[in-house]
Amino acid sequence: MYKMSSKPLISAKEIEERLDSLAAEIKPCGFDVVVPLLSGSFIFAADLCRRIASPELQVSFIRASSYGNSTQSSGQLQISGLEKLDIKGKKILLVDDILDTGITLSKVRETLKACGPSEIRTCVLLDKSARRTVEFNADFVGFSIENKFVVGYGLDYAENYRTYPEIWTLEEDYG
Ligand code: XMP
Repeated sequence: MYKMSSKPLISAKEIEERLDSLAAEIKPCGFDVVVPLLSGSFIFAADLCRRIASPELQVSFIRASSYGNSTQSSGQLQISGLEKLDIKGKKILLVDDILDTGITLSKVRETLKACGPSEIRTCVLLDKSARRTVEFNADFVGFSIENKFVVGYGLDYAENYRTYPEIWTLEEDYG
């Protein structure tokens, strides 16, 4: 069994402030399409998109699933939503909640490259670099965190905890 930490790892205010500074870095790049990976990045991507809004900026969702109901990766990755993606010749910002082993983003980036965009850059809210098993660096990182399982602000454990506005760590509950 798991329980949430007694206080947030990253508060809602800290997230808001970092979103402002991230958006200030990202907006001048002039991306054509933001591609958020569902489900974990849905809150982060929505908050980021509102800060980099422009009339022509498009958003196109894809889904990459690998975790199931566990805190450990199954190693299997399924990517869906590619059939609706229109990114040929476009400048893409691929957005995910967390960069962990790096397997998800490196596989998704390779898959998107095959669709012929002019450029793909990546943005993650959280980076757990201690867990990396493949070489991968995101172009934009919200926060670097230590090797703890985190939930909230879109991140889940067994579909729970997603709706919290803060990031919490999940700890084993021996009680
Ligand atoms: P990889 O290992 O492929 O993992 O970089 C990326 C995906 O794994 C999930 N993940 C987490 N989800 N808390 C979560 O709620 C975590 O601490 C965590 N670490 C990895 C997440 O879906 C991410 O997109």
